[in-house]
Parts: sequence; C-alpha cells; structure tokens
Amino acid sequence: MSDKKKLYIGSNLKMYKGISQSIEYLCSLENLCKAIKDIELFIIPSYTSLDRACNCINQDIVKLGAQNVSWEEEGQFTGEISIKMLREIGIDLVMVGHSERRVIFREDDFDENKKVLTLLEHDFTTLLCVGEMLADKEFNVAKEKISMQLKIALNGVRCIDIRNLRIAYEPAWSIGILGKPASPTYVQAMHRHIKEVLYEIFGKDSINIPVLYGGSVNMDNCIKLIQQKDIDGLFVGRAAWDAKNFFELISKVLEVID
Ligand code: PGA
Repeated sequence: MSDKKKLYIGSNLKMYKGISQSIEYLCSLENLCKAIKDIELFIIPSYTSLDRACNCINQDIVKLGAQNVSWEEEGQFTGEISIKMLREIGIDLVMVGHSERRVIFREDDFDENKKVLTLLEHDFTTLLCVGEMLADKEFNVAKEKISMQLKIALNGVRCIDIRNLRIAYEPAWSIGILGKPASPTYVQAMHRHIKEVLYEIFGKDSINIPVLYGGSVNMDNCIKLIQQKDIDGLFVGRAAWDAKNFFELISKVLEVID
C-alpha cells in the first residue's frame, strides 16, 4: 500500500480484567508501544480500573476510555456514571452503543443519540458503535439498519463537533467467541456505505470521521482488513487482551501501512 493513512487501533476489555490485571496489561502495552507513531491507540478497560490507570499511564501513548456513560449530567440515576465523574479522573474518550449494550441491556438508537450529544457537547472523543444483527444481514437490510443507527444516533450533532467523533462498525454476528469474522470485502462495502451516510448527514466535513472495524479481528485477518480503502482502523477484542499479542498485531498492521 502506498498511501499512508493515520491509523486508529483500540480495544475494549469488556467485563474482564480487574484493577491489577488492567494496570499490568496497560503498563506492558505502554512500554511496548512507546516508540510507535502515527496511530491513535486506545484501550477501554473496566470503570474500576480507570482512576488508577489515569494515574500511571501516559495517555499520549495509550489513550484510555470508558465503556459507557449516562446522558444526564447528575441527579437521581442510581448506578450511572456521569461525564463529570469521568472527566474528574482524566477520561475524555467514551464508547457508546456497543452491541452488547444494545442487545443485552436494550439500549436503543435514541439512547445512543442522547449520549452522543452530551459527550460531544462536553468535548469528549466519542466512539459510536453500529452494526447489524445476523437477521438484518440474512434479510438483506444490513445497510438500512446501519443508516438508521447512524441517522438517529447522530441527529442534532453539529459539524463543528465531528472532529471528536469516531465510528466503529461491528456487525453483531462477528463479535465474540461465537462470532464469525466478516470478510474484508464485506466490511469494505459496509464502510463505504457508512461513509456515504455520514456524507449525507454532514457533507464534506464527514471525510475526516474515522471508521474502524471490529469483530473477531485477529493476526490472520488484520492485514487484509486494514488494506481496504475505507477501513481507517481496527477495534479489537480477544486478540488484543494480551499486550504482547496486541503489540504484534499492531506492528504487523503498521508494516503494511508504512
Ligand atoms: P472480538 O470483540 O474481537 O473478541 O470479536 C470485538 C468487540 O466486541 O468489540
């Protein structure tokens, strides 16, 4: 590949790794990746490890993020975490709309919209996850589903705020232990579609919104994926949860980009 593109690579640690495991993982990843340039590397660990992680990780090397946030700023919302609480500990990146939130915890596009608006209004980097279910794909409405997710979740977002927006395309059927990796050509077609929808919403400013792919990314498929024209980064789960393996995956990807 001749065109060098800025890469976005990250991982969501889900409900794995407590505080000491997260810190150990983050420290070794930071150490391995400190010489790496031209990528925005981010890790989204458990809420409980964030405070400690913010104190010992250089976020210029490994940016830290939260897995969710409330759209309310404060109040009678038992069990929720606010933007102010995250900012207080040094977090300014939040992922919203992961398929596990949508499917297991029944969040819908209107919930994601409220979160996206609150986050962008407070200048947070916002990683919005979208992706179709297996049935959407089988009934050939995957693109329609993605259009709907994007148009609702991004409703009311001002062009000036999109510099802080990132999209992760993660088809639900490709995620996790039972997931099947999507083929690079399928992902490319979906990313093209996502970029067209973003263009429809925001016009030419949308070309700067990075679109990452996630769902069973691994050592075998990472190269083919990143070589697709419209894939700007990778959002990796299981294959990233060992720092050394993740570093190897990142290095492999960087080799073909350089
Ligand atoms: P996976 O997870 O890479 O383990 O499939 C991806 C994700 O849930 O973001």
